[in-house]
Amino acid sequence: MTSQRRPEKIVILTGAGISAESGMGTFRDEGGLWSQHRIEDVATPEGFARNPALVQEFYNQRRQAAAKAEPNPAHQALARLQREWPGEVVIVTQNVDALHEAGGSESVIHMHGELAGALCATCGHRWAAPESMAVGEPCPQCANPSARPDVVWFGEMPYHMEEIFAHLAEADLFAAIGTSGQVYPAAAFVQEAAAAGAHTIELNLDPSAVVSDFAETRPGPAGQTVPAWVSELLGS
Ligand code: APR
Repeated sequence: MTSQRRPEKIVILTGAGISAESGMGTFRDEGGLWSQHRIEDVATPEGFARNPALVQEFYNQRRQAAAKAEPNPAHQALARLQREWPGEVVIVTQNVDALHEAGGSESVIHMHGELAGALCATCGHRWAAPESMAVGEPCPQCANPSARPDVVWFGEMPYHMEEIFAHLAEADLFAAIGTSGQVYPAAAFVQEAAAAGAHTIELNLDPSAVVSDFAETRPGPAGQTVPAWVSELLGS
């Protein structure tokens, strides 16, 4: 009789840092998006109510930049891990780009929404966003002029939280990649996973605000550290 070890469940949280080497700017690094725009102007429901044209333009530009970006070796390595790991690999991203999917990953959980999506602020209907979304664009379901980007703004509840916490409770290994640990609830996932008995590892260029919550850290650019970590896990 052979005894088989239960394949470990891996839960991975990614942030803007994993897409940095694909040319997508981060938020809080020097020259990042939040040094060029005020969060309250472009990433809150109040900002959208005050100046919808400014907000639509901000997301139109980001949508167009994301459409041109290519996945980098970090996205590709995580897709390889999903394909080759004998257990489950869950990717939860705070990113609104589709670079994990472009790199070959499946079932990515977008907790902060997606640039590719449009949401009706009146009835909650969702549809594919046009490359450029106009102010007052009508909802194809209820016809109200209330199209907005399907991204989660400050003050709004991130998506899929119940599902994410269920995954964290079952995690054997939790990794956070390219995130500054400054935005909750994502910044608290490490504590949640550790409480469930998971080994925890941070792969980031600079130490995050919650680095001390991790059992292990690997500094460096994701394009290098992630493929190396994945090769190590897969033993090749
Ligand atoms: N490789 C790895 N990490 C990197 C790289 C890189 N090449 N470049 C930058 N980083 C790291 C930075 O050191 C920083 O810790 O990525 C992190 C980026 O942090 P933020 O800009 O704060 O991005 P993120 O953590 O994803 O932000 C969370 O805040 O406003 C929002 O909703 C937005 O989802 C976003 C959330």
